[in-house]
Amino acid sequence: MSAAVDALVIGAGAAGLFCAAQAGQRGLKVLLVDHAPKLAEKIRISGGGRCNFTNREAGPANYLSENPHFCRSALARYPASEFIALVQRHGIAFHEKHKGQLFCDHSAQDIIELLLHECAAGGVERWQPCAVHEVQPTEAGWTARTDRGEVLARRVVIATGGLPVPKIGASDWGLRLAERLGHRLVAPREALVPLTFDTAHWAPFVPLAGIARPVAISTAVPGKGKRSNTVSFLEDLLFTHRGLSGPAVLQISSFWRPGQTIEIDLLPGTDLFETLQQLKRQSRRQLGNELAALLTQRLADTWLALQGIAADTPMPQVPDATLRRLADSLQHWTLTPSGTEGWAKAEVMAGGVDTRDLSSQTMESRLHPGLYFIGEVVDVTGWLGGYNFQWAWASAVACAEAM
Ligand code: FDA
Repeated sequence: MSAAVDALVIGAGAAGLFCAAQAGQRGLKVLLVDHAPKLAEKIRISGGGRCNFTNREAGPANYLSENPHFCRSALARYPASEFIALVQRHGIAFHEKHKGQLFCDHSAQDIIELLLHECAAGGVERWQPCAVHEVQPTEAGWTARTDRGEVLARRVVIATGGLPVPKIGASDWGLRLAERLGHRLVAPREALVPLTFDTAHWAPFVPLAGIARPVAISTAVPGKGKRSNTVSFLEDLLFTHRGLSGPAVLQISSFWRPGQTIEIDLLPGTDLFETLQQLKRQSRRQLGNELAALLTQRLADTWLALQGIAADTPMPQVPDATLRRLADSLQHWTLTPSGTEGWAKAEVMAGGVDTRDLSSQTMESRLHPGLYFIGEVVDVTGWLGGYNFQWAWASAVACAEAM
């Protein structure tokens, strides 16, 4: 069997479905192909099953890339407000959870249904599961060898996503194709991922597993010249058996590089030394009890034991130097992660197809006219909070409008 189409879109995830729908609605004959047995699994599991489908505040400052300006044009042309309007037109109920993050009230399946309706409105044909083996430029466009036969296409869109969660269909196929066709790659690395520590280093913290609390977290990022800047987030942290997770850690993990330290303030917004000095003047209770009131009993006990500070000393008898050391340890907790929980637990891939080889207006390759890269396969990575889907929608529209 063979097929001839205006556009072959490879990868039926967020970016591929939306691009296929938009291109189809603009009158193109579109074939969408995906090798996974189930449709859009990453959307289904996203946002804890409720899909954080965009962020009201999404802008270029919320993205990491070797070229931080690359995402500017697509995000300006298709801002979050456009996708929100589409969600409203489909009658999908949603709510804002926190910091502009929008989630479905019912289920991520609502977003999958929206995308399927949009594809149907564009007359998009979908082959799934169907692996693509080879994509080659020809004089008239492109040929692709697939499980269901050869496809002749005037344009090809690569929307194969990133490397996270290989068991639901993630592959490096798009990156390898880009490289084989001469594009540069920014080395892929796990992002929005829990951080781990050496077993021996972490052993004293294992009893804290399950504790969650708001923290300020920061790390250094390379700045201009030899200077480095600090990036920080105010979010929840979660202790795990192997290390640290929760939104605070996922956010900082995207900026963290092996060997680098992270710093955590476990009591953000307080001057802990001053608070402890006040308690020393006012309270006759033991240090352990006062600290437990600020931190929870389990965290306070573990922390004092780790610092070698007696929990049962009455407040008036604790030397100021000890209070200072305790406050510093809790507000400037400096750690060096040994690694991450890897691709199985990462929410997104940082790095990807180097944006120097793509047009920021159209997502078209500068090396091969008629070849486009959209979504997570491109070196544009959003923060946690709906920014990655917003990039998928915006890059899909930039591409569809140009084809
Ligand atoms: P996506 O991964 O969605 O799709 C790629 C498609 O290509 C897949 O269907 C895959 O099967 C297919 N494919 C791969 N190789 C292929 C090949 N060789 N041939 C054919 N098909 C191939 N983001 C956000 O903004 N809000 C959120 O709530 C979440 N939540 C979340 C939770 C979890 C657990 C994860 C892992 C990720 C998130 N994300 C997120 C990130 C978000 O899911 C991600 O950035 C987008 O799905 C990226 O969209 P793409 O279409 O680029 O890739």
